[in-house]
Amino acid sequence: MSLRTSTSRALKQALQSTTQKRSFSLVAKAGVAAAARPQVVRPVVNSTRGIKSLDFAGTKETVYERADWPTEKLTEYFKNDTLAMIGYGSQGHGQSLNARDNGLKVIVGVRKGGESWKQAQEDGWVEGETLFSIEEAIGRGTIIMNLLSDAAQSQTWNEIKPLITKDKTLYFAHGFSVVFKEDTGVVPPTDVDVILVAPKGSGRTVRSLFLEGRGINSSIAVFQDVTGKAKEKAVALGIAVGSGYCYETTFEKEVYSDLYGERGVLMGGIQGMFLAQYQVLRENGHSPSEAFNETVEEATQSLFPLIGKYGMDYMYNACSTTARRGALDWAPKFYEANLPVFKSLYENVKNGNETRRSLSFNGQKDYREKFAEETAEIDAQEIWRAGKTVRRLRPDYKEEL
Ligand SMILES: NC(=O)c1ccc[n+]([C@@H]2O[C@H](COP(=O)([O-])OP(=O)(O)OC[C@H]3O[C@@H](n4cnc5c(N)ncnc54)[C@H](OP(=O)(O)O)[C@@H]3O)[C@@H](O)[C@H]2O)c1
Repeated sequence: MSLRTSTSRALKQALQSTTQKRSFSLVAKAGVAAAARPQVVRPVVNSTRGIKSLDFAGTKETVYERADWPTEKLTEYFKNDTLAMIGYGSQGHGQSLNARDNGLKVIVGVRKGGESWKQAQEDGWVEGETLFSIEEAIGRGTIIMNLLSDAAQSQTWNEIKPLITKDKTLYFAHGFSVVFKEDTGVVPPTDVDVILVAPKGSGRTVRSLFLEGRGINSSIAVFQDVTGKAKEKAVALGIAVGSGYCYETTFEKEVYSDLYGERGVLMGGIQGMFLAQYQVLRENGHSPSEAFNETVEEATQSLFPLIGKYGMDYMYNACSTTARRGALDWAPKFYEANLPVFKSLYENVKNGNETRRSLSFNGQKDYREKFAEETAEIDAQEIWRAGKTVRRLRPDYKEEL
């Protein structure tokens, strides 16, 4: 498919509305490095007025933004707190480093001798000062941020629960453990605030966007408000760990939408679609490079970024009339074909089947090895092997890991 740059009205409007979108100016500057901190970057927000209520396609929703929480306000708000990050996977890494760079007192709690312990030390967390066992970190912390894997949250809950004493705050990055309590056994003590900040992206992106002086979108929610301050705390923590905008939701809505999205379009669905399209091209005699370029490369390098920047109509209008006609005709067929799959997926999320599958698989001792085997199978698929050669031809190609 070839691309044409259209000068249609829709396109101009799209461009115009984008330039009108409000933005705040962020300047990343190096902060004062504390001992053993490899890099400290503190984004300085030259804020404009905070947004409180926005119209999302006719529905008003409340959104909290970083501009309302400059670092001075954050440090003042949390001056008596110690954030205990329990777990140092992708979220633990991103959230703890961001909060630390925002000037908050942060400690990390992970099991000794594991992969995370090593990783945390490499990132400058020091044993006995800022790096502790899980139990000790919870004891020292006032805000207990449970960033263990969802399966581990369930497995360790009996040991962790008695340590969450009155006046502490319990924080999650996913509604999973609390919402599916029948399966996870995670029932929080009734005398603490229980809140959630769920970044809408990998912890690596939580960190990289922060370092770029931007911020990830996060959902925030309150499960239990004992102090009357739970929501405010959730927003402040959302900003502290690197969010640019915090969208209000509930624990249930967060976990249902999250499990659904990642199994659907974000990850499972996209792999299924790419693979099916590629396979049919190959069955019809197209070369691997042609099949890959027409399925993945053009999507990720050209068209999807346009959707991301300006929306679906903009992408359609930026393509040839031939492409546009065909896409408009075929989109409803894909919609019809996919709808029952999405309905079934949502049902399986809501009735807990996906949770049980996840807990039983990720609770196994060798879950990392098993995942590695399955993702290696994807890597070995012809489509992704062909992709490696295609990527190598990009002008900005860097040797892949
Ligand atoms: N990753 C994302 O994209 C994302 C996005 C938003 C929200 N979240 C949520 O954030 C939370 C953390 O997710 P994540 O992806 O950062 O974590 P993860 O990589 O799944 O979890 C890894 C952490 O759990 C620890 N762990 C695993 N099994 C353990 C056990 N039996 N006992 C003690 N520790 C154990 C690991 O320590 P060892 O190294 O010692 O095994 C590691 O520190 C989850 O609730 C997740 O749903 C994740």
